[in-house]
Order: sequence, then structure tokens, then C-alpha cells
Amino acid sequence: MNVIFPGKDSKHNDTTALQPPSPQHNREFLNDTTPVPDVTMQATSRDKQRNNRHWTLADIDWQHIDRERARNNPLTYYVVTAASFVETAADLYTANLVEHFPDPTARHWLIHYWQPEELQHGQALRAYVETVWPELDWTQHYNNFFAEYSQLCTMEELEPSRALEMVARCVVETGTSTFYTALHNISDEPILRTLTGLIRQDEVSHYNHFRHFFEEYKQHEHIRRLDVIRSLYKRYSEVENEDAYISLKHTWLMRHPEQEFDHAQLASLTQALRPLLMRQYPYRMALKMLLQPLHLNRGLVNFSLPLLEQVARRLMFRLQ
Ligand SMILES: [Fe+2]
Ligand SMILES: [Fe+2]
Repeated sequence: MNVIFPGKDSKHNDTTALQPPSPQHNREFLNDTTPVPDVTMQATSRDKQRNNRHWTLADIDWQHIDRERARNNPLTYYVVTAASFVETAADLYTANLVEHFPDPTARHWLIHYWQPEELQHGQALRAYVETVWPELDWTQHYNNFFAEYSQLCTMEELEPSRALEMVARCVVETGTSTFYTALHNISDEPILRTLTGLIRQDEVSHYNHFRHFFEEYKQHEHIRRLDVIRSLYKRYSEVENEDAYISLKHTWLMRHPEQEFDHAQLASLTQALRPLLMRQYPYRMALKMLLQPLHLNRGLVNFSLPLLEQVARRLMFRLQ
């Protein structure tokens, strides 16, 4: 779950209009996921294509959430609530990105597609939490979360290069895409499964847009492969340490307001949750998405993927 969560930006001026990637790019990664999507999700996807519109909260069958099943799953509360906090705070880092990327196509996409979709993820996940746990005060604890989380979203956090910040964005969207894929795979509550299926499609689409912007900006900057590797690693480490801690902290406090939350508490919570989530984590999908900005030889990547996947799995389980 640590590889969730969106990020931030810097300054340059290039008015080159960028052409966003087509939606078909999504299939490349979504086809990598192991389990077969459920029938509800397939129907929703067909509807979405037929109507040529993005899904809305009205498409979710809130009335039929199996509340007992959701409440009995220890993973659902922590993971869904933490994600609802981070997604709801999306306007913070979206505003930074818009300031950093003045070119018209990127700005248009960020304002009119990316930000509304991220905010919709937050609204939908919040609705899910409030339906399943109506006794908890989501708003109050979100405000506490926001006060702390907003300190992270400053301009100083952004990469100085636009191309490298796009690489960082790719890491974040890889995290969200694979996180929602894992959650979709393990969800035993049908409405959560549908919802996470819809969100993961959006996240893969975000990844493809940011990667496209990276390729365009790279042509105007002198970016070396080593710089890309550094950016990939840097953002991965930051996400791991900060965002997960703050979101899990306030998720924990919503349920245990009388208790303290510290790093020991985080360690024990992570130890309990991680094996459940990582059992269905799409390692290969994550590796392909992270390696793509490096433009490595395709044959070499395909040859190395099984080995890299094994290493990633072992690393993940050793970290538990
Ligand atoms: Fe999202
Ligand atoms: Fe996203």
C-alpha cells in the first residue's frame, strides 16, 4: 500500500502544445493483471465506451454494498479510508502542477480531466467509507489529515526539471494503478471491487498522460538515463515514507481517537496489512510501468522481467 499517492511540481516556459495519448494505451498495462475482471466491471466498461463518458458516482450501486462483509475485512477499512484522504486532497498538488506546467495542453488536461478524476476518486471512496462506517466522523479526521499532509505539498518538493517531474508523476501513478489493481483483486465485497476497477483504469490513463508529457519535455531538456533513474528512486522513497505514514495515522486515529499513533504503531499496522495486499500485487505491471521511461531494449526487458518480478516479490516480503 505504500506505493500509493499523488505528488507535486517546478517552473519552465514552453508553449509547445502536446498531444495526449489515446485511451487505448491503457490496455497495455491493464491486460497485465492476473485475475479476470468481474462481470459488473466489464458491463460498466462497456457502458462507458458506449456512452463515451467518464463514470460518475451515480454509476455505483451504493445501496447494495455488503456492509457486513466490508466491516469484517480488516484490510478494507484502513486501505480504503487512507486512500480516500489522499485522493480528496488532490487539489493541493494539482494546483502546484498547473503552475509548473504552463503549456496549454498539459494545463487543460490537468484542470479538466486529471484533477476532477482524482477528486472523484476521493468522493467515491469517502462515500464508501461513510456508508460502511456511518458511526465515524470522516470530515473531522480528514481535516486533521489535511492540516498535516498539506505541509508536504510545497513547491520545494518538486523536481527542478519538468521532464523529471513527469517521471516522478509516473512513479506516483504507477503506485496508484498497481495499488487499486491489488485492492480490486483482493476485494471480496462486490461494490468495492467495481469501484476499484473503475479507479484503476483512470490511474493507468493518468500514467500514460504523464509519460507522454515526459517524452515531449525530454526533447527540450538534456536528460540522461541516470537522471531518470534518480528521479524514479527519489519519488519512490518519498512516497514510501511520508504519505503512507500520515494517511494511515489519521485513519487509525479515526477509529481509536483516545490512543497515540507513532512509528511503532505504523510498523505493526503495516505488518498486518501488507501481506494481505501484496498477495495480489501486480509486480510485473509495476515493473513494466517503472521501466518504460528508461527506454531499455524491449527484448532485454522481456527477458529480465520474470527474474525482476521474483526479486521484487522477495524484497517486498522481506520488508514485512
Ligand atoms: Fe486517484
Ligand atoms: Fe491518478
